[in-house]
Amino acid sequence: MCGIVGYLGHREAFDVIVKGLQRLEYRGYDSAGLMLFDGDQVTVSKTKGKVFDLKERAENANAIHGNLGIGHTRWATHGVPNDVNSHPHLSNSKRLALVHNGIIENYQSLKTTLEQRGYTFSSDTDTEVLVNLIEEIQQKEQVKLAKAVRLALNQVVGAYAIVVFDIEQPDRLVTARMGSPLAIGVGEKEYFIASDASPFIAYTSNAIYLEDGEMAVIARDQEVEVRKIKSNKEVDPFIVELELSLEEIEKGGYDHFMLKEIYEQPKAIQDTFRGRLLSDQGLIKMAGVEQHLNTFIEAKRIIIAACGTSWHAGLVGEYIFETYLRIPVEVEYASEFRYRDPVIGPGDVLIAISQSGETADTLAAIKLAKSKGAFVFGICNVVGSSIARETHAGAYTHAGPEIGVASTKAFTTQITLLTLIALKLSQAKESLSHSEIKHLTKALEAVPAKVQEVLELDAHIKAIAEAYFRAENSLYLGRGYNFPVALEGALKLKEISYIHAEGYPAAEMKHGPIALIDEQMPVFVIATRKGHYEKVVSNIQEIKSRKAKIIAIVTKGDQEVAALADHCIEIPEIEESLTPILTTIPLQLLAYYIAIMRGCNVDQPRNLAKSVTVE
Ligand code: AGP
Repeated sequence: MCGIVGYLGHREAFDVIVKGLQRLEYRGYDSAGLMLFDGDQVTVSKTKGKVFDLKERAENANAIHGNLGIGHTRWATHGVPNDVNSHPHLSNSKRLALVHNGIIENYQSLKTTLEQRGYTFSSDTDTEVLVNLIEEIQQKEQVKLAKAVRLALNQVVGAYAIVVFDIEQPDRLVTARMGSPLAIGVGEKEYFIASDASPFIAYTSNAIYLEDGEMAVIARDQEVEVRKIKSNKEVDPFIVELELSLEEIEKGGYDHFMLKEIYEQPKAIQDTFRGRLLSDQGLIKMAGVEQHLNTFIEAKRIIIAACGTSWHAGLVGEYIFETYLRIPVEVEYASEFRYRDPVIGPGDVLIAISQSGETADTLAAIKLAKSKGAFVFGICNVVGSSIARETHAGAYTHAGPEIGVASTKAFTTQITLLTLIALKLSQAKESLSHSEIKHLTKALEAVPAKVQEVLELDAHIKAIAEAYFRAENSLYLGRGYNFPVALEGALKLKEISYIHAEGYPAAEMKHGPIALIDEQMPVFVIATRKGHYEKVVSNIQEIKSRKAKIIAIVTKGDQEVAALADHCIEIPEIEESLTPILTTIPLQLLAYYIAIMRGCNVDQPRNLAKSVTVE
């Protein structure tokens, strides 16, 4: 996620903004920038790289003066990380400067209209479109900044937290939010604006948190003025006294980044299909796929290469692609694929999945596939990462930075993206009917709310963790779409709690693992109503007869498994191919709470790195 900082007061804005951006570095970013106003002129410094590089660049240019400024750390969503795409963005006349955190879905149509009216653009960002839209309205309607911002935002579809400066009204900053966080710090004759309170908590603990759909004007020697963007109705600003530590602010009030990222999944999934899923028209928009439609649908087979959790997402992708597209799919550990001299060549498609976009084995698998003539498509979470740059085409999960070593929101957003790609291709291949596609797009759209419903089972899941955190071994079982979730659940537990855990297809029990079953072995079983339910029930009966404790994930209202299992976690009804997104949530929370109860370092487990950039 991008980070934004604004300052208006008596201090040197440069120091406040640089320190503020450093406080936001935890959010992950690839470039940074700032604008300062010294009472006479505006200076702008921006750079691909870190805040340290930005500070050096501004100091070398002596662009460090002024008591008003705005700053930005960019987590790229539109346009690769480089100096030009970094924020702040200036309007064509250089009168306005703007920083933005979020995604503007209709930026392309707005950009086309502005170009027809003579506006030009130097960057590939949606943000530069917004700052010029505001300018165009200001000039056409002859209105002041605040009104122009409001009118512009009423034309925008998407998520934003913005700060805007107008050199012709240099005593103020205008800020607004929709779908991205924003806080205003209220000091003594000084104001701060930031993505969260960490940039200003050292100066003031008084904060105003704007609600979605609200904007504010902060001006010298004036009270903060808050209004509704749609109605322009004035809102009484509510000032809270913050008692959070800096560390608590960075984690959004959660105890760990992993828990924060588990809870970010509804929004991360929403952001992944935002602007891509137009369910009313039964349309899916994905440029990276559209430009290679025939390559995909005429492929002899699709090979998915990845590591760890991304490999588990690939297994779900195999079920989705073969069901929707009827194209043969194989899933490979990238580390094996790269060394076994695989049979692959022209006509094959390799899909590489990687949250970090830097996993050495996955990168090597991509290079090997390309050298043998295959078409390579990447699914990454980090814009401009090595894998994103190495593949022929790709698509990004918009999960935002994943800081916890144990991957959570990356997994569910990867499945979301694989589903979108499969739907897009099934439309072109006509392997699904229009009504089937419409049904599936509607089902996908309903997923964030259902994930939220499962997250509300937190206390129940934590209580179950209490009963099993002393276990030394565990088994995870699932069938069909939920077999990969069994593997993923086992990986989550073992990598953060250090309990030995194995995932298996439920039917595999009788081929050996059932010998392990006794009252010391907790067994986590995914037994949702859709997909081989009766078979899983009989597996549960086999396990129960051997006195193991059974923790089952079931569909809400299930009675049959409830009568057999020691604990049940009920999830809402959902399309079978989408169950993995829901069934993985309880397993993430179970692993998290068990690890906490065992005193483990959840965010940085022993021996592990967030990105395995070496073999
Ligand atoms: C998952 O919780 C682990 N952190 C690890 O297995 C990870 O998924 C794997 O290293 C692949 O990383 P990538 O998605 O960044 O390529």
